[in-house]
Amino acid sequence: MIKHTHLVLGIETSCDETGVALYGDKGLITDALYSQVKMHEEYGGVVPELASRDHVRKLIPLISQCLANGGISRSDITGIAYTAGPGLVGALFAGTSVARSLAYAWGIPSVGVHHMEGHLLAPMLESTPPNFPFVALLVSGGHTQLIKVTQVGAYELLGESLDDAAGEAFDKTAKLLNLGYPGGPALAACAKEGHSDRFTFPRPMTNRPGLDFSFSGLKTFALTTSQQNELDNQTRADIARAFEEAVADTLAIKCKRALTQTGLSTLVVAGGVSANKHLRATLNQMGSDIGADIFYPRHDFCTDNGAMIAYAGYQRLMAGEHDELNIKVRPRWPLAELNIPESI
Ligand code: KG4
Ligand code: ZN
Repeated sequence: MIKHTHLVLGIETSCDETGVALYGDKGLITDALYSQVKMHEEYGGVVPELASRDHVRKLIPLISQCLANGGISRSDITGIAYTAGPGLVGALFAGTSVARSLAYAWGIPSVGVHHMEGHLLAPMLESTPPNFPFVALLVSGGHTQLIKVTQVGAYELLGESLDDAAGEAFDKTAKLLNLGYPGGPALAACAKEGHSDRFTFPRPMTNRPGLDFSFSGLKTFALTTSQQNELDNQTRADIARAFEEAVADTLAIKCKRALTQTGLSTLVVAGGVSANKHLRATLNQMGSDIGADIFYPRHDFCTDNGAMIAYAGYQRLMAGEHDELNIKVRPRWPLAELNIPESI
């Protein structure tokens, strides 16, 4: 086995996936994920209390599994990174308590990672990572943000959603079309059977300047359209298709604007919605039209995972950061507060 001088255990528990990974100075060693989707399915969405309990149950077995898969022993681990926010407070506490306790017991440093920093750095785990600086489009269940990224720990918020996040709009629209949970992949599958010329949804906030988004109107548009038509399978698919196209076009218009405004030609797209194939096709078309390079994480690292937290935490630990003895989570945490001071 290759010996790593620095080796970080990453732990993600901000929502409904328990993610664990090992990342060292020779790269990603192994990762494991336990998804709670089946448990939350019957409630039609994430039940926070159940999520916390399940993280507590699954975390230690998942850590042992990762160590075994990677052929790593505890004494090889030099640091622990965990998601400290934003997310569901109980779920964050589950991962944070385990991570901090292990670090204390093993006598190694730990660092709390911002979940969205994890997402935005996820493409760095690929064999051809993007070069800094770049514009990042973060599209998850809780966030839709455009960020100028100069380097790890230097983030400037360019624009964000004023209401629903893109993923949230996918989830809510899927729910009103009775497509189940999780909504994003279900809606995308349904949209494949849809015709794009039957309904035309608006492209919100694209005809005024700026880089902010608003997605709650699209969900209302989907609701009204579904009430005005008999909701058979074809109509459902046609609405899903029109909705998906509207979200993808809107995101592509704003990404193009952000690239032009910043003068940058590299776009990173991350977060759960970046797994969407239609969005990728639309963004790739925009990229080739204006000569921009677009980078995505591999499919499994678009949604929540331990690898992105291990990677971001590794960078933070290498920059000299580590926790104090107290245990703290940040259910709400603006990304802009994250910038690494130049003196570090
Ligand atoms: O990043 P993520 O796993 O968790 C958060 O940080 O929120 O993102 C989850 C979101 C959910 O809203 C889910 O419906 C959406 O990403 N999503 C998708 C797809 N896969 C996941 N949305 C559209 N198309 C997909 N293929
Ligand atoms: Zn996420």
